[in-house]
Amino acid sequence: MPWVLPHEWSGPEVSYLVSKSVLSRLAALRLTPSSPAESSGRVAVAPLMGWTHRHFRYLLRCVSPSVVLFTEMIPSAALVHGRKTQSLLSYHSCEHPIALQLAGDCPDQLANAARIGHEYGYDEINLNVGCPSPRVQRGGFGVCLMAQPERLAECVRAIRSVNPVPVTIKCRLGFDEHHSDHFLDDFVAILSEAGCSTFYVHARMAWLKGLDPKENREKPPLNYSRVDRLKKKFKDLEIILNGGIRDLEQVVELLSRFDGVMVGRRVLEDPLWLAEVDQRLGRASRDIRTREAVVLAYVDYLRKILRDPGLPGQGRRSPSLFQPLGSLFRSFPGAAKMRAEAARASQAAPSELLGWLDRLEKWAEAGSSHLAPGHPYRVSDV
Ligand SMILES: Cc1cc2nc3c(=O)[nH]c(=O)nc-3n(C[C@H](O)[C@H](O)[C@H](O)COP(=O)(O)O)c2cc1C
Repeated sequence: MPWVLPHEWSGPEVSYLVSKSVLSRLAALRLTPSSPAESSGRVAVAPLMGWTHRHFRYLLRCVSPSVVLFTEMIPSAALVHGRKTQSLLSYHSCEHPIALQLAGDCPDQLANAARIGHEYGYDEINLNVGCPSPRVQRGGFGVCLMAQPERLAECVRAIRSVNPVPVTIKCRLGFDEHHSDHFLDDFVAILSEAGCSTFYVHARMAWLKGLDPKENREKPPLNYSRVDRLKKKFKDLEIILNGGIRDLEQVVELLSRFDGVMVGRRVLEDPLWLAEVDQRLGRASRDIRTREAVVLAYVDYLRKILRDPGLPGQGRRSPSLFQPLGSLFRSFPGAAKMRAEAARASQAAPSELLGWLDRLEKWAEAGSSHLAPGHPYRVSDV
């Protein structure tokens, strides 16, 4: 299997996150949630263009051991004809379970792209049938493919013929004049017949006439009851709700009605929220992922990437390497300054950058050591 990072990077259980030296200083607080909400439902982080690249996903995995991660949308043509296949598909072994999201409308090309994705070891191939952007529309895919379920079914069958992992679909409730329950039911029935049994449903319509892609993320209003109805009608299919999920009790409640939840922007704003979700659902690993612990793990990751010229990626000093830290630096005194430093890091001279990483490491260590023993966020030696 093509591989991104040297194998020794990954280790058993928690230690896959950090080197031994960091581990020895990391949090190992055993917290048992008082009454975890039992649910076997899937929790996934939505594909987010410009965000869910491999570095951000690595950070998310530092926070949550079990959440399902998605790549950004990758056009099938970029994998089949492009020269960037390796940098688009590489990921760290700790990212499993991980889904590859493809966009396209040509069965053969999608099958080729999925085959390549399978060689890279992705756990799921997801088709983007929800994107409303004009560029994607011009390519004839994204949400407008909802109006061609037979074509999409051909794509699903072609992918399944070359790739054994599940083929799933991320869609909307419909778009423009295709707004009826009947339309959505037909869509799901045709695709399930072709072998897709998992649907991530962004619980809003798309309006291609009149709203731009950004507006289409807020309007028209979410409509969970239509997804409820869909689940009741297709009891045997996995229906995963996406859109507007923001708090823990909402996650618990939705998991009682659907087979899973998919969360996007809430995670961008606060990646550590995933640790709270895991804890609420009784899925937390034995380590509590504090901000400081995650920063230590990520600094360790950055040092390895910067040290090793052989690692493939989106450019060793690309802004995407430092972007995930910006999401962690929020809502505490000095956070804005640290965000600005993270944003400048990709341009910094090597010695300045290494000095910054040292300071960051000290900050993370100090930030946890002032807490009293027994404090839920106390970081102690393992
Ligand atoms: C910045 C950004 C990028 C997105 N990129 C993708 C993408 O690549 N593929 C996709 O299927 N949806 C994409 N979406 C839509 C999200 O996956 C998700 O469906 C939407 O944000 C609703 O979920 P949320 O309310 O939890 O954020 C994107 C959304 C945002 C805000």
